[in-house]
Amino acid sequence: MATLNLQNITKSFGTAQVLQGIDLAIKDKEFVVFVGPSGCGKSTLLRIVAGLELATSGQIVIDGTDVSALAPVDRGISMVFQSYALYPHLTVFENIAFPLRVQKLPETDVRAKVAKAAEILQLGEKLHLKPGQLSGGQRQRVAIGRSIVRNPKIFLFDEPLSNLDAALRGDMRVELSQLHRDLAATMIYVTHDQIEAMTMAHRIVVLNAGRVEQFGTPMELYHHPATRFVATFIGQPNMNLVPATVLGTDATGLSVELEGGLRLTLPVDAGRAKTGDRVEVGVRPENTALGDGLSMKVRVLERLGGVSITYCVTPSGARFCASLPGDAAIAEGQTIGLAINPADCHVFDANGRVMRRRMAPALAA
Ligand SMILES: Nc1ncnc2c1ncn2[C@@H]1O[C@H](COP(=O)(O)OP(=O)(O)O)[C@@H](O)[C@H]1O
Ligand SMILES: [Mg+2]
Repeated sequence: MATLNLQNITKSFGTAQVLQGIDLAIKDKEFVVFVGPSGCGKSTLLRIVAGLELATSGQIVIDGTDVSALAPVDRGISMVFQSYALYPHLTVFENIAFPLRVQKLPETDVRAKVAKAAEILQLGEKLHLKPGQLSGGQRQRVAIGRSIVRNPKIFLFDEPLSNLDAALRGDMRVELSQLHRDLAATMIYVTHDQIEAMTMAHRIVVLNAGRVEQFGTPMELYHHPATRFVATFIGQPNMNLVPATVLGTDATGLSVELEGGLRLTLPVDAGRAKTGDRVEVGVRPENTALGDGLSMKVRVLERLGGVSITYCVTPSGARFCASLPGDAAIAEGQTIGLAINPADCHVFDANGRVMRRRMAPALAA
């Protein structure tokens, strides 16, 4: 068992407040990813959980016990960093064994625990080597091995794959997901990479400027982003935002005129929106198709095979991206029409808050 509750965590460095009151309830055996742009406070929050940094205020509760005043070693937590922090003069075996040596564990126990970790991480053949003789991915696995032997209640990872090349990052994502299943432990993983967040997390915490923008499953964030920030952060290529003017609201939803003249009635709860208000309509590139709708000129066409990522410019000069079929009969410089299904649209008010969608495809009750 290892639940983690963060209660109103704030953090200031001097006069700069970098965490603005974080409340999170993380379940036992959950894989939670903290994602957000550089500088939003991800590492600071993780270091506060680990006890490497003191919160300015708030409580950290693990399995119902307030650990806010405990030293890092007494929290039952283990952290893996982006820089592997291995000892270059020690073998892989001794690097993994290091925390057990510190605990002065008997030699037979050390051997058993290191062997188990090496088996999980497929490092059995490498135990006699020094870190300098390993690839980046293998070094990161050694760092994870050192974490595993401590048998922590909660694993913390701070951008552990950022130093690896793209192909290896993809492989390691799969391995870490497998590791999570094998160890059945609570894990918190920090990254600025939304693909890592979407692929590995049970639930994602989107952080922005020291605040939780949204906490939910990957598909909740994709289909029901609560804010403009989450909407444009989650999903590749990014969601398009088209300025629009409210024409009116009624039982069927919100009628708008998009920049360029297209009129749509969108099935959202319009709240206090009124005629003349300026809003933004969010359209994911994959929710467009060739047809009647928005008119625009193809600027750059990327044929990826299965899909054609189509970068367009509207008559008013705005950028718009469409993800069209791989063999779509279009060319750079051509003017095309893009059809949009109102049910796929997201609407954001002037404060960037979403108007709740009435019928989102995958999650409709
Ligand atoms: N020890 C520190 N002293 C002063 N400011 C810090 C310190 N650590 C982090 N910060 C600031 O806190 C903010 C959040 O940093 P950090 O948690 O490292 O962000 P992230 O991991 O999301 O990139 C940044 O503005 C950073 O400059
Ligand atoms: Mg960081």
